[in-house]
Amino acid sequence: MGAAAEPLVIEISKLSTSFGEKVVHRDIDLEVRRAEIFAVIGGSGSGKSTLLREMILLQRPNTGSIRILGVSLEAIDER
Ligand SMILES: Nc1ncnc2c1ncn2[C@@H]1O[C@H](COP(=O)(O)OP(=O)(O)O)[C@@H](O)[C@H]1O
Ligand SMILES: [Mg+2]
Repeated sequence: MGAAAEPLVIEISKLSTSFGEKVVHRDIDLEVRRAEIFAVIGGSGSGKSTLLREMILLQRPNTGSIRILGVSLEAIDER
């Protein structure tokens, strides 16, 4: 089975994050499929940890959407 046929696990669309005047992410799009190895690389302070925190609901992006296993994090409830 080709990688493109695997189901989507993480889908990020048009994600932007700022802290005050500081823009950390601008219009990020990415997709990670089952069994795919995906690396997030960048210098210190480039926004890697912030992006991961947004994927696990410890932080909210300013704009954009994150879907995990097909579930939109904007729509998810606390439980
Ligand atoms: N809660 C926060 N409040 C203000 N600035 C933050 C906060 N979290 C991260 N930052 C800033 O956002 C930028 C990206 O941080 P971070 O995601 O930790 O980078 P990395 O993990 O790539 O080193 C840095 O400039 C950092 O100082
Ligand atoms: Mg980090």
